[in-house]
Amino acid sequence: MKTVIPVPIPQHPYEIRIAPAGLDYLGAWLAGEPPLIRPGQKLLLVSNPVVFKHYGERAIASLTQAGYKVCQCILPAGERYKTLRSIEKIHTVAFENRLERGSAMVALGGGVIGDMTGFAAATWLRGIAVVQVPTTLLAMVDASIGGKTGVNHPQGKNLIGAFHQPRLVLIDPQVLATLPGREFRAGMAEVIKYGVIWDDDLFTQLEAAQRLDQQKFIGEELLHSILTHSCQAKADVVSQDEKEAGLRAILNYGHTIGHAVESLTGYRQVNHGEAVAIGMVAAGAIARDMSLWDQAAVDRQLALLQKTKLPTKLPEGLNVDEILIALRSDKKVQAGTVRFVLPERIGKAFVSNEVTDDLVRQALARM
Ligand code: NAD
Ligand code: GLY
Repeated sequence: MKTVIPVPIPQHPYEIRIAPAGLDYLGAWLAGEPPLIRPGQKLLLVSNPVVFKHYGERAIASLTQAGYKVCQCILPAGERYKTLRSIEKIHTVAFENRLERGSAMVALGGGVIGDMTGFAAATWLRGIAVVQVPTTLLAMVDASIGGKTGVNHPQGKNLIGAFHQPRLVLIDPQVLATLPGREFRAGMAEVIKYGVIWDDDLFTQLEAAQRLDQQKFIGEELLHSILTHSCQAKADVVSQDEKEAGLRAILNYGHTIGHAVESLTGYRQVNHGEAVAIGMVAAGAIARDMSLWDQAAVDRQLALLQKTKLPTKLPEGLNVDEILIALRSDKKVQAGTVRFVLPERIGKAFVSNEVTDDLVRQALARM
């Protein structure tokens, strides 16, 4: 099963290729006719030790066989290394290997490696090409597509960054075999998000599955469909609104309260996907309380999150007032109003400026 999804962003169109064992064709696809990166060019592969141990050699073999000169930069794993220091390390390797304007960087890893490599490529020589080879479910369906790149500042997540679209996104679903279950479930939170905000067919497919909590319980066919539908949803949205002037904001469904939960728990206790799951439950309840969503839809969303074994309640010890204060400092505040993405039916969402503190308080108090 191989699927190609075009991402027709004006000025920067590219493809997402979803193909089992695709890692072995990475070089051949980049060097194809016309080449995405000219064979003979230097490629800087960026990864972390865990991912590189599993997949580094295969990626390098594929690129070398296609005629590229490959060098590498292996950064420590983890969100806490998503810093400007790591970008400097990538740039140092780029300098030592004399990467030129026609060279490119290849991100082999999850969203942390993808965001950093994209930003390093966006800023090296004022911008060279980047290729995304995501290895977590979250990076496959979300982080690798759409060109948001960047690093964290000590004062906040993703505060430093640039839009820099990749030349190619290559998804090899087989690499998910080594992904820890908790990371898989985090990616599933974003998949369920696409079902709620964009694709009711995806939502129904997920409802029909027996189990969604581990990759091994999801057959190859359903996994391929999950990837295809989710990537198509992201491609549709970012192609219509590359720089988040409007529509793209719906991708933040569940993220408003999610970010508050993540930051208040120190980015450790609850991971990003888990926080988004909690945020989706809250946003669904708010929409229901505003008579925008019915109870049946609230229950269907909750059932999917529970089937995926994602958290659906606030973590112990978090208090509602703290969350309300954190919401005020979120990037999504505009002119003092917190902007919430709310569902209006399964498969459709919109951005609302009408959510009051009382509505948030009421929804959170029940969680
Ligand atoms: P991650 O990159 O930290 O990866 C999670 C863990 O999985 C890491 O320890 C990694 O070493 C390991 N891993 C990765 N692939 C593996 C594999 N195939 N086998 C075994 N282990 C593997 O986390 P993530 O959830 O992929 O990404 C989170 C990051 O993505 C955050 O920094 C977030 O801000 C960013 N993000 C960016 C966007 C965007 O649009 N740019 C969207 C969503 C999230
Ligand atoms: N992950 C949200 C976005 O890409 O806009």
